[in-house]
Amino acid sequence: MDAFSLKDRTVLVTGASSGIGRAVAVAVSQLGGRVMAWGRDQARLGETLGMLEGTGHAAHSVDMSDAGVIEPAIAETCSESGPLGGLVHCAGVSQPSLLRDADFSKVDAMSRLNWLSFLALCRAVCRRGRYAPQMSVVAVASMAALRGQAAMSAYAGSKGAVLASVPALAAEYAPRGIRFNSVSPCPVDTPMQRAMIDKLGSDWYRREVEEKAKLGPLAPEDVANAIVFLLSPAARRITGVNLVVDSGWSLG
Ligand SMILES: NC(=O)c1ccc[n+]([C@@H]2O[C@H](COP(=O)([O-])OP(=O)(O)OC[C@H]3O[C@@H](n4cnc5c(N)ncnc54)[C@H](OP(=O)(O)O)[C@@H]3O)[C@@H](O)[C@H]2O)c1
Repeated sequence: MDAFSLKDRTVLVTGASSGIGRAVAVAVSQLGGRVMAWGRDQARLGETLGMLEGTGHAAHSVDMSDAGVIEPAIAETCSESGPLGGLVHCAGVSQPSLLRDADFSKVDAMSRLNWLSFLALCRAVCRRGRYAPQMSVVAVASMAALRGQAAMSAYAGSKGAVLASVPALAAEYAPRGIRFNSVSPCPVDTPMQRAMIDKLGSDWYRREVEEKAKLGPLAPEDVANAIVFLLSPAARRITGVNLVVDSGWSLG
C-alpha cells in the first residue's frame, strides 16, 4: 500500500473556493481521495470541482460566520458523503490593522470564523457515524501567530487560538484514533495575500515575503502538499503538532 495515498478517503475541505483550500482539494483528488468542498461562492466552488481528478466529489455553499449553521451543514454533508476520513479547515479571513484602528466587531467576526467555526466543525464531525477509522483533521493556522508582526495582533490571536486548541483536541480524541494537526504558513500567494498587499503596500510584500522567504515565495500548492501528508496514513503516528511551512521565513 502507498502510505501517501488518499484512496478510499473522503475529505471535507473548507475554504475550497479559493487559494490554499482549492489547492488542498486538487491535491486530495490527485492522491485518489474524494472531496467535499465547502465555501460560500458557488461559481468559484464550481471552478474548483472542475479542477479535481476522479469522480464522486461534491460542493456545498456554507457561510460559517455563524457557528450554529455548522452542525446541520455537517449532518447534510455526511449524509451524502458517508463517514469522513479527513477534515481540513482552510476557510479564514485576515483583518490586518494597527490596534489603534481596530474595528472590534470585525475582530469578533474574524475570531468566530478562524477559530470558533473550527471547534464547531470538529465537534460536529467527531460524532459516531460521521468519521471513518483513523480520521485526520488539519487546521490552517499562520506564522503570524508565532512571530510578531505589526498590524497582526487580532489575526495572530485568532490563529494562536487554533494552535492552542489543536494539541488539546489531539489529546481528547486520541482514544478514538482521530488525529489533529495544524500547518503554519508564512504569506502565500492567494487572493488573501493580494488583499494584504493592497492594504499594507508593496513595501510590506518586499519586507515580509521577498526578503524573508529564503527558498522563494510560497504557492498554495506548497501548503497543500504538507496538508495531504498530514491527512495520509504516512502520518498515522503524528498528532498534536504544528507543521511550519515557511520557506525559511522564520530562520532570521
Ligand atoms: N495567504 C496567506 O498568506 C496565508 C498565510 C497564512 C495562513 N493563511 C490562512 O490560510 C487559510 C486560507 O487562506 P487563503 O490565503 O487561501 O485565502 P483566500 O484565498 O482568501 O480564501 C479564503 C477562503 O475562506 C472562505 N471563507 C471566507 N469567509 C467565509 C465564511 N464566512 N464562511 C465560509 N467560508 C468563508 C472563502 O470562501 P468564499 O471565497 O467562497 O467566500 C475562501 O474559500 C486562511 O485560514 C488563512 O488565514 C493564509
